[in-house]
Amino acid sequence: MNSDDAVIRLEAAGVAFDGRRALEAVTVALDQRRIGVIGSNGSGKSTFARLLNGLVAADSGTVRVHGLDPVRQGKELRRRVGFVFSNPDVQIVMPTVGEDVAFTLRGQGLTREEIAARVTEALDQLGLASLREVSAFTLSGGQKQLLALAAVLVSRPSLVIADEPTALLDAVNSRIISGHLLDDPAHQVVLVTHDLRLAARCDVVLRFSGGRLVEAGEPDAVIDAYEREYA
Ligand SMILES: Nc1ncnc2c1ncn2[C@@H]1O[C@H](COP(=O)(O)OP(=O)(O)OP(=O)(O)O)[C@@H](O)[C@H]1O
Ligand SMILES: [Mg+2]
Repeated sequence: MNSDDAVIRLEAAGVAFDGRRALEAVTVALDQRRIGVIGSNGSGKSTFARLLNGLVAADSGTVRVHGLDPVRQGKELRRRVGFVFSNPDVQIVMPTVGEDVAFTLRGQGLTREEIAARVTEALDQLGLASLREVSAFTLSGGQKQLLALAAVLVSRPSLVIADEPTALLDAVNSRIISGHLLDDPAHQVVLVTHDLRLAARCDVVLRFSGGRLVEAGEPDAVIDAYEREYA
C-alpha cells in the first residue's frame, strides 16, 4: 500500500485537552475495509475516532480522510463518512422513526419520492419498517441504536466510524448491528469496541494505550498481546 493513497492517513497527529495529552503523535495509514480499535478506558480510542470526522481537531501533525482535512473540509467529508455513537439518544433528532432517517438526506437535492424510497430501504435493512410512524423517543435502547445506524446508512457512506455502537445492546441486537457494520462490503468501517470478539472479525486492529497507538496489525496478534498484558 502506498501510504499517500490510504483512505485514512495520520502523521504525528496529537490532541491535548486543557493541556493534558489525549493522543500522542499518531502515525498510521489505513486502507483495510474493517478497522478495529481497542484499548483500555481513557486510552484515546474515542479521541482517535473523533479526529477522523472532525469533531476533535489535532493540535499537531496532520489528519486526512479521503484526502480531506476533517476540520477544514468537514462538510465535504461528512457527505462520505457516517458516525455512530454508543449512545443513540444523542443522534435522534426528529420525532418519528421515518422522519429521523429522512433528516439525514436533507439538502442533497433528492426528490420527496427518492427520499421516501431510500428511507424505506434503510428501515427494511435494519428491521424497522413497521416502526416508521412511531415516536423515535419511545423505542427501546436497542431499537434506537438500530435507528441511529439506519440514519447513517441511508446516506450510503463510504466510511462508517462507530464508537462502541454495541455497548448498550443485548446479544441479538449486538449481532445485528455488528453484522451491518462489518459484513456489508459497501462501506469501510472503523469500529471502536471493548468486545474483543468483534475486533477479531476486523482486517486490522489498532491498540491504544495511554494516548499512544502502541500496535497496529493482524487482529489475533494484537488482541493476544492486549489480553496478555492484563492477564
Ligand atoms: N472533551 C474532553 N475534554 C477533556 N478531556 C478529554 C475530553 N475527551 C477526552 N478527554 C481525555 O482524553 C483521554 C482519552 O479519552 P478517550 O475518550 O479518547 O478514551 P477512550 O479510549 O475512548 O476511553 P473509553 O474506553 O472509556 O471510552 C482521557 O484522559 C480523557 O479524560
Ligand atoms: Mg471512548
